[in-house]
Amino acid sequence: MKTNAIGKYKPNLHFAPEKNWMNDPNGLVYFEGEYHLFYQYHPYSTVWGPMHWGHAVSKDLIDWEELDVALYPDELGMIFSGSAVVDWENTSGFFPNKPGLVAIFTYHLEGKEGTEPTQTQAIAYSFDRGRSWKKYEGNPVLSSETKIDFRDPKVFWYEQTRRWIMVLATGQTITFYSSPNLIDWEFESEFGEGNGLHHGVWECPDLFQLSVTGGNEKKWVLLVSVGDNPDFETGSQTQYFVGEFDGKTFIPDQSSSKLLDFGKDNYAGVSFSDIPHNDGRRIYVGWMSNWRYANEVPTNGWRGQMTIPRELSLEKIAGEYNVNQLPVKEMVSYFDNELVIDEEILHENDKRTYHVESAYVDCAINIEKQSATQLGIVVNHSKQQFTKIEINYNNREIRLVREGSGIINCSPNFSKDQTVKIGDINHINLKLIIDSSSIELFINEGQYALTSLIYPDHACESISFSSTDGNVRLYNGYIAKPSRL
Ligand code: FRU
Repeated sequence: MKTNAIGKYKPNLHFAPEKNWMNDPNGLVYFEGEYHLFYQYHPYSTVWGPMHWGHAVSKDLIDWEELDVALYPDELGMIFSGSAVVDWENTSGFFPNKPGLVAIFTYHLEGKEGTEPTQTQAIAYSFDRGRSWKKYEGNPVLSSETKIDFRDPKVFWYEQTRRWIMVLATGQTITFYSSPNLIDWEFESEFGEGNGLHHGVWECPDLFQLSVTGGNEKKWVLLVSVGDNPDFETGSQTQYFVGEFDGKTFIPDQSSSKLLDFGKDNYAGVSFSDIPHNDGRRIYVGWMSNWRYANEVPTNGWRGQMTIPRELSLEKIAGEYNVNQLPVKEMVSYFDNELVIDEEILHENDKRTYHVESAYVDCAINIEKQSATQLGIVVNHSKQQFTKIEINYNNREIRLVREGSGIINCSPNFSKDQTVKIGDINHINLKLIIDSSSIELFINEGQYALTSLIYPDHACESISFSSTDGNVRLYNGYIAKPSRL
């Protein structure tokens, strides 16, 4: 097999480790002017293996500096996913002098001679802004007698009861625990049976409150990733529930869940802890891959990247709550070269092509259906390679087709179309972030997201729009790229 050059497919706008394997984002926390991104990392291989926590920091969520590995496996097991918090009030007793970081993670210990593995929760703390860590001597701090899948603790401070809450994936349920000090944990409740998607193991939960846009109402959002099950077509994906939480129990408004992303490549995403109050954003990062083919994607020397950090908001649309997501505003300053699409009417079978030639692109456009049955947007990566985005007015669907986008043979599943049904498709707003090996689609100010990996030779040469069977109006749009690349 031909191997690719090491730099090939490396993203320009997204975080990827310099070398080797990465999966889930872990320990997302803001502290003393830095955003910390820890991640599931195998420092010695480009496929999944004994997990460590890799570490990167950023001042603006886009430009990341990779630091030394933060947590290494030890006799209690590999270091699986988890979270990090600032212990502002020294509840743990680790920080008599000044506040510091506590990481809460899962130890995964392989079973001996064919026995099941054991998963337990443990903590580590840092006095030096995450540069070095001490594992707590009393680890593990939480174990289970019955659950084999018992992992991915997400911890936050719940002011009303003045306790820490741990949200844990426990098979195909989520279990809530609470603690006064991050060390002693008590069971509160279990959620999930009969709720949401159950085609795979539940992983990487997150729970947070969001204000409903345009009012005073607040609701709790529970994110739950659902693992890959080869018996189903979907691969791994992330669902969410909206409901109430009182420090003990989560009660969803509805037993069904919604998908957070309609693309195949956004998994195990969680949000940042300790974003300052005067900022107030809920910022999310996902792992931009899918367990169905993550170990086989055609990169050389490195494997795995994150989504663009996204700001989450909650909107009530036609009586239903919806989690909206858009790239963080910090991304804007990475683009300074704009081509404006003021207004264009595409007549039947017209095609407009905009030459872009850039290593990454931000394109946004408003689209009004007139008499057409379809609008096709083609991102031409090179003369031969392209990704199609089809807006189909008859079946109210947007479809991303990556069959012709470059290397697609890492899995038979990879070339399958990715689609999203749209409520009101006659007027839509579309935002596209194109990087060396991904396209992220945000529809109607982020009401729907569709995240997809691609492996073309170049990011983007041109973008074309064409209408089928009638007219389409494009307005208030732009295609932006950086001038310095
Ligand atoms: C999710 C996951 C987690 C686990 C980690 C192991 O992608 O399976 O449940 O902690 O990856 O790397």
